[in-house]
Amino acid sequence: MVDFNSGVTMLKPAANNPATRPTLSDSLVASTHQKTTSVLALLSDASSEFGDNKITFANSFGAEDMVLTDIIIRNALKIEIFSLDTGRLPAETYDLMSETEKHYNTKLNVYFPIAENVELYVKTNGINAFYDSIELRKSCCHMRKVEPLQRALSGKGAWITGMRAAQATTRASLPVREFDTGNQLEKFNPLSDWSEQEVWAYIRLHEVPYNKLHDQFYPSIGCAPCTRAVAMGEDIRAGRWWWEDPTSKECGLHVKI
Ligand code: ADX
Ligand code: SF4
Repeated sequence: MVDFNSGVTMLKPAANNPATRPTLSDSLVASTHQKTTSVLALLSDASSEFGDNKITFANSFGAEDMVLTDIIIRNALKIEIFSLDTGRLPAETYDLMSETEKHYNTKLNVYFPIAENVELYVKTNGINAFYDSIELRKSCCHMRKVEPLQRALSGKGAWITGMRAAQATTRASLPVREFDTGNQLEKFNPLSDWSEQEVWAYIRLHEVPYNKLHDQFYPSIGCAPCTRAVAMGEDIRAGRWWWEDPTSKECGLHVKI
């Protein structure tokens, strides 16, 4: 069982998270603009290469994904955007989903888990069974995220993520482009070399909507029961599945085979 009193230090006051409000120095603004130009070129080339309806962006509504959403919509790129609603997302993520629809005057493309699978899992294992063992955690992620992802990627030639190399030890050598052997299609990680500061500089400079949990020391946000705030200076993904070994915790969306 998970020990809820171990590991992560307690929440900090909401208004004082310097990570989400970096000082917009000339050098930070310049590097953010320069990297934005590179991402736009990469995405434009990718949309031409894969053509209409063949390239899709997985938007989790995290800070990085809001940057990519803004670049795609602002530049009217022909790239689909989809999201996976696990059914266990925090209320703040649903608020942002709704805000995103209004801000960009768009309708979301949301994939849900198969209801019968969730019903059987809960009946067999319990409503919060993901805390009971790594296997039950992984099977919950598979049912709520990986299977819907496979449906979202079906028939596509390429997909795009908002992952960054600096987010985790499991992502340290993340290429901008790779072949996703698990899903058998091309995968782009355009923000691979972005720093957290550049992500937030983009959000502030372009007034991009973002998840209010980020201001409350949640740098990485997934499902509500599996995400916690982190202490200052702690690893960005320390609050995700905080009870697991940091060298191997991934939900199955981005595993290499
Ligand atoms: S993960 O461990 O949940 O996979 P993270 O939250 O760091 O990791 O997300 C990494 C990338 O996976 C996101 O930038 C996004 O492209 C994709 N992703 C993760 N969760 C979702 C989701 N719920 N819907 C769509 N894409 C997602
Ligand atoms: Fe289930 Fe937690 Fe994975 Fe969400 S993050 S799918 S609740 S185990």
